[in-house]
Amino acid sequence: MNAESNPGANQAPAVDAIDAKALKLFAFKVWSYKMGEVVSLMIHLGDRLGLYRALHDAGAVTGTELAARTGLDGRFVEEWLLSQAAADLLTRHDDGRFELDALGAAILADEGGSVDFAAGAFAGGTHPDVVEALVRSFETGEGITYEEQGAVATAGLARMNAPRFRQALVSEVLPSFDGLTERLAGGTTLVEIGCGAGVALTTVAAAFPNSSFIGIDPSPTAVELARRQARDDGLANVTFIEGFAADIAEAVAEGRPGVVLAFDCLHDMPRPDHALTAIRAVLADDGMLLVKEIRCTGDFDRDRRNPLLALLYGYSVASCLQSALSEADGLGLGTVGLHGDRLTEMATAAGFGSVTQQDLGEPNNLYYDIRP
Ligand SMILES: C[S@@+](CC[C@H](N)C(=O)[O-])C[C@H]1O[C@@H](n2cnc3c(N)ncnc32)[C@H](O)[C@@H]1O
Repeated sequence: MNAESNPGANQAPAVDAIDAKALKLFAFKVWSYKMGEVVSLMIHLGDRLGLYRALHDAGAVTGTELAARTGLDGRFVEEWLLSQAAADLLTRHDDGRFELDALGAAILADEGGSVDFAAGAFAGGTHPDVVEALVRSFETGEGITYEEQGAVATAGLARMNAPRFRQALVSEVLPSFDGLTERLAGGTTLVEIGCGAGVALTTVAAAFPNSSFIGIDPSPTAVELARRQARDDGLANVTFIEGFAADIAEAVAEGRPGVVLAFDCLHDMPRPDHALTAIRAVLADDGMLLVKEIRCTGDFDRDRRNPLLALLYGYSVASCLQSALSEADGLGLGTVGLHGDRLTEMATAAGFGSVTQQDLGEPNNLYYDIRP
């Protein structure tokens, strides 16, 4: 078909007809994303090589001093420091020394002490084989599972979520649900579906030795990491099982769980509706289902108030929607697809009686307390 037979074709204005300033601004916006990709790699290197940790509390240092502290090559360390100063992630003083201030340390260095630690989310890029699989998904409509997204992604996701789980789940999140900590302290069975590498579950299991815990996830890599975490933490009250949420009844051999957790996973499931039905069938009649989902409204224009919305949609195309379309009958909700109204509708259809939203002030997440 040529342009004459397709009047819509070739209608983009010639480049010299475009406002030159607008063109530059648009190009700058696009190159800023490229800069983000490259700075992300620098953050990965800084985290992986221990450069941020060595800068933490070191005061102002030269590149040579930082190289000596880390045992790394001086010229590469100097250039990396300049890249970080250029990205405004650390300060370059007039005397040429570099310093990571308290804010930078909280976000980039202090993994064990800062709930806002973020450098763990910078896993170093997407494996080329996974990129090829993403291309194929657009051609076939069939997504890839979390397992197929690769071991680096599985471990990276666990590390990304760990600071909040390790430092706020037991002290801040659980106590905001009516009766939950009392129930766990007294002794109950808690099942977590879509538990990933088990960071949340091992944290809760360590805090409540009277209760028993079962984690379920279809990813063998995630389950293996979770089992290793439980062994490292010396936990005898937690079991991890490879399986789907819809098979929760088989995982819970006896009794009915008093608590089920579904953290950041329902929107990833091809059939969250089936999962909710299966959970309702096993949950004790006085039990509770706690859901953590992405903060979203179902309205794109309202969701745009989130300045990180493009990050969420990117995660969706590359990860969550992939998983949600990894089976032929997948609903394909994606990262920003399970808002409160939709979750309420699904939970009600699955036989639950009440859904209460809990906003704990986390920028990208909301919680829901769902009861029979
Ligand atoms: C974004 S990760 C969240 C992991 C963990 N809950 C967390 O918050 O870090 C989503 C998890 O859901 C799991 N998942 C996907 N489909 C599932 C299904 N049908 N049943 C149970 N888990 C599923 C994936 O394997 C993955 O580990």
